[in-house]
Formats: sequence, structure tokens, C-alpha cells
Amino acid sequence: MILDILTYPNPELYKISKPVEKFDKSLHSLLNNMAETMYEANGIGLAAPQVGHKLRVFVIDIAIDEEDENKLYEFINPKISQSSGTLTFEEGCLSVPGLSEEVKRKEKIQVDYFDRFGKPQILETEGLLAVAIQHENDHLDGVLFIDRLSPIRRRMVKKKLSKAITL
Ligand code: CO
Repeated sequence: MILDILTYPNPELYKISKPVEKFDKSLHSLLNNMAETMYEANGIGLAAPQVGHKLRVFVIDIAIDEEDENKLYEFINPKISQSSGTLTFEEGCLSVPGLSEEVKRKEKIQVDYFDRFGKPQILETEGLLAVAIQHENDHLDGVLFIDRLSPIRRRMVKKKLSKAITL
């Protein structure tokens, strides 16, 4: 099922999500629906609060080209436990349509999380997947990528967005 994606400045996007406690059928159907919604919207990541569920859950598939092998990652109750280096990457977000901005992130991370069956997992990664995990993880804390910009850039972007919304 395709879910509705909430967009800026919806206040729901600024709330803190709660950890998943039950790894049950309703979690599995949420995960399935989130993946379907992400693929349909041509996104590479989607967090539960973007579709109105304040749960610490996100899905990612960074295969952009059709030749790339699809790999769907499902992260539940993730924690970035280690990180190093920095990199700047041009990010966009399904909740902030039509905007992309360079954001500074950690280059390498280790993320501890649970799979859909409640089994603990550890992933060490870098580059685009690490960027996507940090972006989606921010959604769980009510942070959008535009909140990570420098104050001047953020002011410019918010002005641009408020104009776009008024039209
Ligand atoms: Co996003």
C-alpha cells in the first residue's frame, strides 16, 4: 500500500519518534508499505515519521541506477554507535520536495539496530549509505536536512520554501 508522505512544514516532522517494542505483523506491514512508498516516490530512504508513524524505523535502498542491484535495508531502533571523518553530500528529502542542498555528515559510521524480527544487527558503512542512514536517523529525532545547514543558508532556504508553499 502506498502511504501519504508528509511534507515541510508539517509539525509532525519535528516530533521525536518512539522505539519499536513489538516486532509483529503490524510492524512488518508498515515496513512493506514504507518500502513500496519509497520506491514509488523514487526516494532512496524513508523514515516512519514521514508517513505519520512516530516509530524509530526507516528503510533505505541506495541502488539508483537500474543496473544496480537492489538491496533493501530495514533499520529498527537504530543507534549510530561510532563515527569518523566528514564528507559533504548534496541531499534531498521526500518531505522537502524540489530542494537539494549540500550537508556535512560523518564519512564512516557504525550503526547498531534490529531487523524486523527483533534480531540485533551491526553495520559498518561509509559513503552514500552512511549519509542516508544519518539523514533518516535525523528524521526519528525530528530533524530535517535543512536544519543541518549553516544559519545563513538555512534562512535562505526557508525563505525559498515559504514562498513555494504560499504559491
Ligand atoms: Co528525508
